[in-house]
Amino acid sequence: MELPTARRAYTSTMHTIVTESPDDAAAFVRAGETAAFPTETVYGLGADALRPSAVQKIFEAKGRPSDNPLIVHISDRSELDHIASDLRPYAIDLVDQFFPGSLTVVVKKAGHVPEIVTAGLDTVGVRMPAHATALAFLKACDTAVAAPSANRSGRPSPTTWQAVLDDLDGRIPCILRGDRTNVGLESTVVDCTGPRPIVLRSGAVSLETLREVVPDVDFPTATNYDVARSPGLRHRHYAPEAQVVLVTEPPPDPPSRSAYIGLTAPAEGASFEHVTVCRDVAEYAFELFDFFRTCDGRGLAAIFCEMPPESGLGVALADRLRRAAAGGTIS
Ligand code: TXA
Ligand code: MG
Repeated sequence: MELPTARRAYTSTMHTIVTESPDDAAAFVRAGETAAFPTETVYGLGADALRPSAVQKIFEAKGRPSDNPLIVHISDRSELDHIASDLRPYAIDLVDQFFPGSLTVVVKKAGHVPEIVTAGLDTVGVRMPAHATALAFLKACDTAVAAPSANRSGRPSPTTWQAVLDDLDGRIPCILRGDRTNVGLESTVVDCTGPRPIVLRSGAVSLETLREVVPDVDFPTATNYDVARSPGLRHRHYAPEAQVVLVTEPPPDPPSRSAYIGLTAPAEGASFEHVTVCRDVAEYAFELFDFFRTCDGRGLAAIFCEMPPESGLGVALADRLRRAAAGGTIS
């Protein structure tokens, strides 16, 4: 017997199809279902942002707390005016410069954007990805698409379609299969509702790059920002099962069942079970979440991570490493 739509998302017996066709994946969204899709940052799990019953399925599939708002994805700059209202001049400057791209702007929402998308806030995060497959999919959806990262809550953001399948097989109807995501960390989220832009989540677009457009953009401090305005700042992020140890250089004599990732090669003979040495910070960011998944899969006990230089993309990378080391469980 066919289960009623509202029940289906609760079951884990749904058949998950994997397709390379943006049109086929978009058909699920047009029908009020979910579909995972690649972007240049990480894979997202999309649903029609203007249909609360569809958005509900995202929260159910991920096991995501309902007080954490979703980013609305668009395929054309002009859709922003449909989703947002009262854009500040600096927000328009940011959008003009970074759409399409790895920037999410938090702006005042238009009246018809449902509360389930924004967790009851009067603001909405909006992003236009710079990724051909994502844009083809979003265009074919014919609506704005609410999408968090396509992981089960408590797991790292997925950078491959296989990681999406590992987490959500049987819980979502469709995965749009694309390449491994080229950035590997999530977008930069900037609150554009106050007198000056505030970076709520560091990400693929660095503070230095943002400052070229809006010089007074900053991270939140006790004096410039009310943390209560951003649920994302309250939620804990992913931490692997293994203990994450932040180091300034690879340990010469690691304990058993350890892994290492960083920019510096470990000494010859250091007995790690899994090692990834990255050429530069961009490659480190590209590898990190996949590396964590591999370590979890192997049941390793400790992951040594070399801290990167904290400029450019290194700021976002260091942020994810610190969150992983702090030992949270929920993303
Ligand atoms: O790269 C990305 O941003 C990916 C791809 C799929 O676009 N998406 C993503 O979504 O990482 P998610 O849901 O995992 O993270 C969204 C972050 C959360 O920290 C959330 O709290 C914050 O953005 N956010 C969304 N809307 C917000 C709002 N109205 N006010 C404050 N923070 C918001
Ligand atoms: Mg996420």
